[in-house]
Amino acid sequence: MIDIHAHILPLVDDGAKSAIESLSLCETALKNSIEAIVATPHFNKYEEIKKKSQLRDERISELQTYLDTNKCPISIYPGFEVYCGEEIAQVTDFSDFTINKSRYMLCEFDFFEPDALVFMQIIDHIVKCGVVPIIAHPERYKAFLEDYESLNYIRRWGALYQLNAGSFTGAYGRGERRLAITMLQCGFCDFIATDAHSIHSRSTNLKEMLIDSQIDFASGELDIMTVHNPRRILENEEITDIKRGFITYDALD
Ligand SMILES: [Fe+2]
Repeated sequence: MIDIHAHILPLVDDGAKSAIESLSLCETALKNSIEAIVATPHFNKYEEIKKKSQLRDERISELQTYLDTNKCPISIYPGFEVYCGEEIAQVTDFSDFTINKSRYMLCEFDFFEPDALVFMQIIDHIVKCGVVPIIAHPERYKAFLEDYESLNYIRRWGALYQLNAGSFTGAYGRGERRLAITMLQCGFCDFIATDAHSIHSRSTNLKEMLIDSQIDFASGELDIMTVHNPRRILENEEITDIKRGFITYDALD
């Protein structure tokens, strides 16, 4: 499997606190059948993109060497979890923001913003700049929790959805679990990732979390979300078989 969302790098954000913790997270990932991880540090100061990219790439290089020395066969790829506030409208060239220099960008939003329209305007701008937004953990935002149907519009514009494995176990709450399962059932789950931050709380135990969730994933479905779609991103290939369902509050009933 390939984890496309993890705060695996040491001392760049609120993720791993040391190289030893990064190694532990990678060893846990390996035990969970993960062979590659996209390092996605939080990023919100758009004017610092060159500086942050350089720091991230140095940390990746150091971690990769450390993993090799410790015989931990995991490949680390570059990405960011880009905070998408209204100021992002000033950015038009996202080439340094995307995952592995592809057309795909992992996008985070304000958890407490109540109005989905705010997100929709930002996503519209990103799409018009030629970038495919991957919405990080949509099941955790107030705006979507209170307005499931806004997810339909964003979907039509080409946005992809990355759900956190922990949402399926209920780690973030009952409402988040309900929205995650509804999105899965409506075909609105293109990726499942860990969003790992620490060996103590949110870790890289992807397989364990999927088993703990007690969700009966359809045959092959899990492979698409954890292997095939992530691979297409790393290779900057188009994701052609996007499911286009329609989500409503009563989809579970
Ligand atoms: Fe994250």
